[in-house]
Amino acid sequence: MIKAKTDVNDLQRKILDLKKKQNTALLVHNYQIPQIQDIGDFLGDSLGLAKTSRQLKVKAIILCGVKFMAETVKILSPDKKILLPVREAGCPLADMIEPDELMKLKSKHPDAWVVSYVNTSAEIKALSDVCCTSANAITVVRNVPVKKIIFVPDRNLGEWVKMNVPQKEIILWDGFCIVHEYFSLKDLEGARKIHPDAELIVHPECRKEILEGADSVLSTSGILKRAKESSAKKFIIGTEEGIIHRLKKDNPQKEFYSLGNAKICINMKKITLEDVYASLKEQKYNIELNVDMMNKARVALERMVKYV
Ligand code: 13P
Ligand code: SF4
Repeated sequence: MIKAKTDVNDLQRKILDLKKKQNTALLVHNYQIPQIQDIGDFLGDSLGLAKTSRQLKVKAIILCGVKFMAETVKILSPDKKILLPVREAGCPLADMIEPDELMKLKSKHPDAWVVSYVNTSAEIKALSDVCCTSANAITVVRNVPVKKIIFVPDRNLGEWVKMNVPQKEIILWDGFCIVHEYFSLKDLEGARKIHPDAELIVHPECRKEILEGADSVLSTSGILKRAKESSAKKFIIGTEEGIIHRLKKDNPQKEFYSLGNAKICINMKKITLEDVYASLKEQKYNIELNVDMMNKARVALERMVKYV
């Protein structure tokens, strides 16, 4: 949980007051703009947001992140009102697989389990046997009771899982994150040369050669934890630049640099403070999903917890 808010501007204060009045919580992903991060009730990775949403005793949740995150929270907390301040805040990776494409692949491999990364639509989750996040993908795949896995939609996270769980037969989907895909080996070599004493941490959505060349491969909250615990004084971070704000805030005595040029997820940056205020005032945009689909998707999400 984030501590009491003291140094806030007028709009931030208005949001804090209104959300209290409306018994609404503000859940914020680690890539959101600093002004939103600073007023969140909880700041975290996909797994943390999903878990926290279930425990909160509130009427409504404003999810500052992208659509699949808001849908995941709705699936896990169907009785709460879940609001996404900008309807168009999507995730291109989640859109790289359609339900009919997954159905086709499933029919080719009837003995396989579908493990879907949480960066998927509710429809894809409903067609999956189990979900995973970047924080637990290796453990989930290692523990599921089958040898053959269809892993969707991120090929880079899938490769990382394959490298770590060689005893499973893993069929990869060819999706990728349009932000992480563009960290290059040149970025990595350049960063190592400029900061030879720095610890290099990357997100598993980066390409295989980046994952192999890093010191650690972690989810966004894993990166935050590692930076706090490590004795290193300097870090090179291979993920969306929004996380640098929190890293610096939590560790003022340490130095943080983005790997290569800072990379921005434009979808994560679509939400402004004005949008959060409007979302509270006008109760928009309410996430509504088909009940049957939600029930199926919930099974896959709840199984994830069973296999970690
Ligand atoms: P995390 O679950 O690690 O926060 O990742 C979500 C995401 O969209 C990364 O691009
Ligand atoms: Fe999707 Fe990539 Fe943005 Fe994460 S960083 S929300 S995977 S597009």
